[in-house]
Amino acid sequence: MTLPRCCASDGLSSEWMADATSANKSVLDYLYPPSPRDAWKRGSIESVWRPVSRSCRLVPAACYCFHVKGSPIKAENPDAWRDSVSIANNPSGKRKCELCKNFNNCSCLAPSKRGAAGISGMSTQPVPGCLFGDMRPGKLLAVIGACRRLGITHIIEEGRYGGLSAYVYALHGFKVTSVELLPIDFVASALRESAPSIVHAVGDGSVLVPELVRKASHTERLAVIFDGEKRHKAYRTYKKISDRVHLAIFDDSFHERFHNFLDSHRETAWHTNLDSAFLGAHGPSMAYYHFVLVRGGAWKDGDELW
Ligand SMILES: C[S@@+](CC[C@H](N)C(=O)[O-])C[C@H]1O[C@@H](n2cnc3c(N)ncnc32)[C@H](O)[C@@H]1O
Repeated sequence: MTLPRCCASDGLSSEWMADATSANKSVLDYLYPPSPRDAWKRGSIESVWRPVSRSCRLVPAACYCFHVKGSPIKAENPDAWRDSVSIANNPSGKRKCELCKNFNNCSCLAPSKRGAAGISGMSTQPVPGCLFGDMRPGKLLAVIGACRRLGITHIIEEGRYGGLSAYVYALHGFKVTSVELLPIDFVASALRESAPSIVHAVGDGSVLVPELVRKASHTERLAVIFDGEKRHKAYRTYKKISDRVHLAIFDDSFHERFHNFLDSHRETAWHTNLDSAFLGAHGPSMAYYHFVLVRGGAWKDGDELW
């Protein structure tokens, strides 16, 4: 399907993305192993994609429901909710938002204790600690494929959470800067151990991302992934840096009619959930896990490597 908003000469057409994502055999083998069951049972995140590393355990109904800094386990971090950005976790029952009152004790992932069984009874590995991710293989493939085709050298990702997406980009050869407002302590240490090249930036991405982009060397080709701020807010940050960025990626992009908003701003964009060829090849569930790639101002004709 050729989308009206993407035309071949602008890049980011369905065909452009198919070429970008089918040429990466090593990435395809990593993200879509021949036996996913085997990958789940025995694979490690160095060799095959899995949504959690082997050294995570599930902590049932004892965690904050919304993001906090430090440990997500309430008993280990009882005052974390007092931070103004985590106030939706207020244990007094006074909730900042209507939706939040249905959330009290949630389950979360945390590092397994040494020698104990990990998640689903798997044997654990001492390194690289507990990392987990929100990005489905189809999204990772779209990012890595487009970035490789464009010769991107440096990915700045706003929103680290469980750290696995940052880890996967670093594993596939990109310089990565990971920006997080509320870093989870065990995720930061697992990343430092397993992917020491990743630069950690702590704070609000609306401030830090423009600073990082401004400081980046002009020899670098940049992609920025907005997975902290969403949609219109993320776009405001993006507009401060669009001329320096080859590619911008906005996660959870189909709420608030963001696709129409991008059209009205005449952005060249490719949406996971609108490309039926990509959905057919890389998973129909992508229709519900939408994100969008936007052509940045630094992307000039002829920048593609193939
Ligand atoms: C959806 S999670 C990121 C998931 C991660 N990229 C992955 O794919 O596994 C969103 C994260 O963004 C962080 N965040 C939210 N607003 C932010 C901001 N303005 N700056 C930096 N991080 C932010 C949250 O604390 C949370 O950890």
